Amino acid sequence: MPAIAVLGCMWGDEAKAKIVDYLGTDTEFVVRFQGGSNAGHTIVVEGKKYVFHAVPSGILYPGTKCVIGAGVVIDPISLVSEIQELENSGIDFNQRLFIDERAGVVLPLHRELDTISEGMLKSGKIGTTGRGIGPAYADMTARAGIRIIDLAHPSYLKRRLRELYQYHGRSLDNAGMKEVSQTLAMCWERLKGYVAPTFGMLQEAHKRDAGILFEGAQGTMLDRSWGTYPYVTSSNTLVDAIGTGAGFSARKLDEVLGVYKAYCTRVGEGPFPTEIHDELAQKIRIQGNEFGATTGRPRRIGHFDAVLASYTATLNCLDGIAVTLLDVLSGIEELKICVGYKLGKRVLSEPPAHPLDLQKVQPVYTVLSGWEEDITQARSMAALPANARIYLEAIQDLLELPVKIVSVGKQRHQTFNA
Ligand code: IMP
Ligand code: MG
Repeated sequence: MPAIAVLGCMWGDEAKAKIVDYLGTDTEFVVRFQGGSNAGHTIVVEGKKYVFHAVPSGILYPGTKCVIGAGVVIDPISLVSEIQELENSGIDFNQRLFIDERAGVVLPLHRELDTISEGMLKSGKIGTTGRGIGPAYADMTARAGIRIIDLAHPSYLKRRLRELYQYHGRSLDNAGMKEVSQTLAMCWERLKGYVAPTFGMLQEAHKRDAGILFEGAQGTMLDRSWGTYPYVTSSNTLVDAIGTGAGFSARKLDEVLGVYKAYCTRVGEGPFPTEIHDELAQKIRIQGNEFGATTGRPRRIGHFDAVLASYTATLNCLDGIAVTLLDVLSGIEELKICVGYKLGKRVLSEPPAHPLDLQKVQPVYTVLSGWEEDITQARSMAALPANARIYLEAIQDLLELPVKIVSVGKQRHQTFNA
């Protein structure tokens, strides 16, 4: 069985979890390697909706083991309640969830700092999910952070907490310390059974040729280094983050699959060259239920952007792509795909690095005819209307990559191999 990566290749919410779920049937491990509870994955199985934030979506398959890798930052309070909610829906976690000892911890302090920093940014807020992700990663990088394994060492933890507060110019009085450490102790009691040295587990599984699926969170355009900085998340979301975040070198992957929506969406602030604000945007938003799974915010909508899509395909060294939410485009007369950016007199084939330039670019569009038919029952390329096939072929040609999977609805079975 291969080691596969499934990565969102735009600004997140490409319906990665649905693709992971589709591929996951006989995968032994599903692994999260970056991000935290800023992620929101929604999966619908037999009409029942499951929302995931930190737990890998592979938990829906009873035989699958799920790993939260060292590159993830975990909010213990929110993870405990996420596990509880999933358990209440009948999911069994016993011997199925493994949290790496080295993963970072998101504290209530980080949520507070997230809100404060959003309020302070004079150059414009980022529109974060408010989950404390940025401040938690910043502390990890500053070597001031708390790690999951620290929760097993109460007096060391207290020292680290005191130093962390000092680092942020705050003091933690006895009552404050008691509150934080008691909360963390309660979370530890609930989580300790899941904490494990995941590095060896994954290496051993790979040696046995077990199926391992790495599930990206957010998307490449939110990558801290290569995305639309500063309007990005605070982790690297590229394929290479699997090496740093799960201790599993990306060189060992057999396949890297990029997930793209048939159009574009973005939540939060930042440049979005193909964004549209007209009736079409509203139609797509309603049709595609484009509201954030984590924050409920309406997502911004735009045409498919092949400039960014080619860029992220190259960054991730993709082998193929999955196109999701194709059904949402039914009933639209003309479909536009952005094939270049005009910046002044120049035509660019890759995004400029500066946000002000990316904000200024004029997309160059190719226009394709749409289709009227409802395609939610299609289970093969042949069952799609000709114009839907032409649309997918155009994406395929522009990205120079095969479309391998197509998704035409929310349900697990509304997916097919192209
Ligand atoms: P943060 O990750 O909460 O710091 O937010 C930084 C940016 O990433 C904001 O624009 C968020 O809306 C965006 N973001 C973070 N996680 C997700 C996600 O799972 N899907 C889509 N956007 C996300
Ligand atoms: Mg999401």
